[in-house]
Amino acid sequence: SFHDNALIVVFGASGDLASKKTFPALFGLYRENKLPKVVSIIGFARSDLSHDQFRDKVSKHLKYDKNNDDHIKKLENFLKICTYHRGSYDEAEGFQELEKSIVKFDNDNKLEVSNRLYYLALPPSVFTKVATNLKKYNYPSDSSKGSARLIVEKPFGHDLESSRQLQSELSPLWKEEELFRIDHYLGKEMVKNLLPVRFTNTFLMSCWNNQFIDCIQISFKENFGTEGRGGYFDSIGIIRDVIQNHLLQVLTILLMGKPEDFTNPESIRNEKVNLLKAIRTIDFNDVLIGQYTKSTDGSKPAYIDDETVNADSKANTFAAIALHVDNDTWKNVPIILKAGKALNDSKVEIRIQFKKSVADIYENSSRNELVFRIQPDEAMYLKMNIKLPGVPNKVSVSDLDLTYKDRYSKEFYIPEAYESLIYDALNDDHSNFVRNDELDISWALFTPLLHYLESDKGPSPELYPYGSRGPEGLHEFMKKHGYDYASNENYQWPVTTPE
Ligand code: BG6
Repeated sequence: SFHDNALIVVFGASGDLASKKTFPALFGLYRENKLPKVVSIIGFARSDLSHDQFRDKVSKHLKYDKNNDDHIKKLENFLKICTYHRGSYDEAEGFQELEKSIVKFDNDNKLEVSNRLYYLALPPSVFTKVATNLKKYNYPSDSSKGSARLIVEKPFGHDLESSRQLQSELSPLWKEEELFRIDHYLGKEMVKNLLPVRFTNTFLMSCWNNQFIDCIQISFKENFGTEGRGGYFDSIGIIRDVIQNHLLQVLTILLMGKPEDFTNPESIRNEKVNLLKAIRTIDFNDVLIGQYTKSTDGSKPAYIDDETVNADSKANTFAAIALHVDNDTWKNVPIILKAGKALNDSKVEIRIQFKKSVADIYENSSRNELVFRIQPDEAMYLKMNIKLPGVPNKVSVSDLDLTYKDRYSKEFYIPEAYESLIYDALNDDHSNFVRNDELDISWALFTPLLHYLESDKGPSPELYPYGSRGPEGLHEFMKKHGYDYASNENYQWPVTTPE
């Protein structure tokens, strides 16, 4: 099995994703002794690079402790197992040559079973070509003598139609069990924590529904713009970039019903699909879109200052969308997905606002709010009303705070999202990968909105300055969809003495 030996080929090896995410993750696994003992990593791309030039390129983004001898040794050894293979994506030759290297690796190590993991860090234009060639030239003909897995990365299409097209090209070649569609948010520690927390704490289980919860917000903020990535981003926009995939995945895990069997990935994914099917068609009026302009002090550029972007681009760098889940558990609870680039902060969090207590006898009491901070600094905290110590009958908001770095020592190694997902793929665990039908429903949900926004009828984005909290209309939008800012008004941390 992949426990014993693996040959990993990274396609698009000289690209941004591979250098910044895939190779650092492979190194992280290697450094933590999580890769099989017998392993080889081949980078495959079109650029003309020697093995050493390639290793230089790879080594730039690897993370290790310079004062740790073990890390230094691991780094050296890791680079030794990385080799480079130049080839074109649409010609047989490169793949035939690759096969020779794979066979040589198998023979040199006297392997009885050839386990191959192919990682496509590629633009969609060459996706199918590579998947086709791999199937033709690099797929073990006899399943008792080998197996192959294919990891694919977004974008999985541009809308429902193109996603189905892509899927119809892939599925005759690669079986669903052999495919791993990465959404790296599913590899984040706090996202993986959601199901265990939800289903092992009775107090949460019993109030996880519309009788107790008023409003949910899932928010993604980045304090940098699309600098340098404008060309990629312009036809994509924030909804395709992070909402239709990352935030929707978080929503699904947060609200899905209890899977029959937690050890069975298909059981988990079935429940996700049930939840996704219950999401109501998006009402275009429940959407706020924005695009950033120069920062107020003029030091940061506007989105359209990017040379690779059209001067009249309507691309959205900010969006807030209110969704509704029409099942018995979640009917009437607005769920706001909100994402923006070039904002005042970099933070991803889930905020769950509970209903206000009916025994409204104390002034200043607020709704409970449970927050999961996905990044930076994983944390969960629950805002609670408590009697102010020593003060008669005065209530104030405080919190139960579980900040990971305060609670868990360094011994707890929290893997990077990509590390955790590549590890899962090597172990053939599909629980944290997106299944074909999930992908289809997520595109069906967002495609009408995307087409509307991109049509002549689509509204222009509301402008907001680089470094701000987003478009001015945001506050009203949040209030209209049930988010209660008042819950935060009496909240102070650290607590100061009352007058
Ligand atoms: C990627 C998007 O999928 O996710 C980027 O294409 C975004 O635009 C990134 O910056 C965010 O990932 P993370 O792990 O940094 O939150």
